[in-house]
Amino acid sequence: MALQAIKYDGTSLSVLDQLQLPHLVKYVPIRTVQEGWQAIREMRVRGAPAIAIVAILSLAVELRTLLTEGKLSPVADEVRTFITEKLRYLVTSRPTAVNLGDAARKFERLIAVHAKEKDSTGHSLAIAFLKEAEQMLTNDLNDNRNIGAYGAKWIVEKALLQGRKTVNVLTHCNTGSLATSGYGTALGVIRSLHSSHYLGRAYCTETRPYNQGARLTAFELVHDNIPSTLITDSMAAALLASKNSEIFAIVVGADRVAANGDTANKIGTYGLAVLAKHHGVKFLVAAPRTTIDRETKSGEDIVIEERPASEVTNIKGPLEEDVTGPLRMETIRIAAPGIDVWNPAFDVTPAALIDAIITEVGVVERGSDGYFHFDAVFDGSPNS
Ligand code: MRU
Repeated sequence: MALQAIKYDGTSLSVLDQLQLPHLVKYVPIRTVQEGWQAIREMRVRGAPAIAIVAILSLAVELRTLLTEGKLSPVADEVRTFITEKLRYLVTSRPTAVNLGDAARKFERLIAVHAKEKDSTGHSLAIAFLKEAEQMLTNDLNDNRNIGAYGAKWIVEKALLQGRKTVNVLTHCNTGSLATSGYGTALGVIRSLHSSHYLGRAYCTETRPYNQGARLTAFELVHDNIPSTLITDSMAAALLASKNSEIFAIVVGADRVAANGDTANKIGTYGLAVLAKHHGVKFLVAAPRTTIDRETKSGEDIVIEERPASEVTNIKGPLEEDVTGPLRMETIRIAAPGIDVWNPAFDVTPAALIDAIITEVGVVERGSDGYFHFDAVFDGSPNS
């Protein structure tokens, strides 16, 4: 059975609590915008597409409850204000991934247009919101499958030119079913390579300090029986240098791709891109078009979230003897007390280090000027 980070049935929403994974598979209910905001801020749900979807669905379930209980104003303008305020609040949960801000703006526009219609009421506004929210969930899954297929095709074509029958790839952080509505972006490319029998082995980094690789990506790879190996972040250079591993490509996701192709993604991505360049390994970003932010000119304009020092100084896990019984998570300090900590959650990889960006409508290769040009992806005719 496919892993599902987000469960939504039109009236209720729950998310797989990623703070408990891989030790415990437990869903937590999200009934309100406040609970949605909290789940995103605490990283019970994370990953750029999943954050946006859960934020929008948390407002959808709150609206549904108000409708059912007869507590929603019948006045269109009042409901419009209510929705707009909630959307703006949700955007404050995490700053770097653009998908959330992009979705919030899209829903704000939808509601504003709807509110202007002659017969619109508070209830019709809420119904329009709910319909679009459901559509968002379906679209994301379809987009990810397309990203997977386009990415795998691009990689296989390049690999065949070099006489390779299978490829080994390295990925970073978690970009799979747990970071999206299903299948994943960079991990979707790996899934697609695997199902078409072109994948030799997938390597995943631990992804310090939050360990999305060791906890979540490794969990997904094992779940899907994909041949895979976990490394710590500091082993990546040795892996690329090793003749045995024969890494053909590094495939990562993105939280925000600027208009020129500079890409913000999980801390450590930039270092991997530098390594890829040194070793002549393809460096690919897989992301839906909602992650491409054409309003942001370059990576310099991207706000990087800084997270608490405790994520670096401490590690969390269940006590060995409790693994089969009720889960008791322990926090252990690993750093010397008193040390200052810098904990940026993301870094920016310059476009010049990225070979191609894989979207749901095709693959965009870097232009001869060293930057990416996305007009074709938005106009419907990408170059690969
Ligand atoms: O801090 P996180 O776990 O939300 O960071 C996630 C990433 O950096 C992912 O690579 C990115 O959001 C793409 S997920 C499809």
